[in-house]
Amino acid sequence: MEFISVKNVSKDYKKGSEVIHSLNGVSVDIKQGDFTIILGQSGSGKSTLLNLIGGMDCVTSGEIIVDGDNISKKNKNQLTDYRRTDVGYVFQFYNLIPSLNVLENVRLAARLSKSPISAEEAITAVGLKDRMKHFPSEMSGGEMQRVSIARAICKNPKILLCDEPTGALDSVTGEKIWILLHKMATQYKKTVIAVTHNALVAPAADRVIQIKDGKIISVQDNENPVALEKVAW
Ligand SMILES: Nc1ncnc2c1ncn2[C@@H]1O[C@H](COP(=O)(O)OP(=O)(O)OP(=O)(O)O)[C@@H](O)[C@H]1O
Ligand SMILES: [Mg+2]
Repeated sequence: MEFISVKNVSKDYKKGSEVIHSLNGVSVDIKQGDFTIILGQSGSGKSTLLNLIGGMDCVTSGEIIVDGDNISKKNKNQLTDYRRTDVGYVFQFYNLIPSLNVLENVRLAARLSKSPISAEEAITAVGLKDRMKHFPSEMSGGEMQRVSIARAICKNPKILLCDEPTGALDSVTGEKIWILLHKMATQYKKTVIAVTHNALVAPAADRVIQIKDGKIISVQDNENPVALEKVAW
C-alpha cells in the first residue's frame, strides 16, 4: 500500500468573482521513506499540493490518504492534531522566532508533539551541537535552515514537507541542505517531499513529480538515485 495517496484532487481559490483552479484532478502516490521532489514553474500549484498533504488547507474535491487515514475527512481539531504530530514543515525563509535561541526554538516545536525526540538530539543531527545558545541573528542562512530542519524533525513526524528549502541560499550551502534532507529520509526514515525550482536535485530523488498548470505532467522513478554529492551543482 502507498503511504500517501492523492486521489483526483482539485483545489480552487475564489478571488472576487474569479475562480483560480490551483490544482486540477491531481492523482499521485508517495512511498514511505522516499525522497520525493516536486518540480514545476511558478504558479503551477506546487505549494498548494504540499499544503494539502500537510493539512494546512482543505481539498475542493478528491481525497488524500496518509498512512491509511483519510485526511480530507478530518474536522478542524483532527487536522490540527495531524499537523502537530505527523507533519514537519521546512520553509524557504526558516520562520524561526528571533527572540529565542536555537535550543529554545526547537524545544518550542517539540512541546507540540505527542512523541518528540529531544531537542538536543535533533540539533545534533543537523550538525549544530555547538550552536545551541545562538540566536537566529547570529547565524548564517544555511545554519538557520538547519535549525528549521531540527525544529521539524524533533516533533518526530512521519512526513517532512519542504517548500523551496534552499530558495534563499547560495548553491554550496543549498547542496549541504539537500544532503541533510536526503539523510532525513534514508537515516531517519522520514517521508520527505520537497518542492523546488532546482531541477539539478531531481536525479537524486526516488520519485520526481512534475506539475504544470495545476496538473501532473510526469511522475518519474529513479531506480538508482544519484548521490547528491555527485550532482553537478
Ligand atoms: N490562498 C490563495 N488564494 C488565491 N489564490 C491562490 C492562493 N494560493 C495559491 N493561489 C493561486 O494558485 C496558483 C498556484 O499557486 P501555488 O502557490 O501552489 O504555486 P507554486 O507552484 O507554489 O508557485 P511558486 O513556485 O511561485 O511558489 C497560483 O495561480 C496562485 O496565485
Ligand atoms: Mg510555491
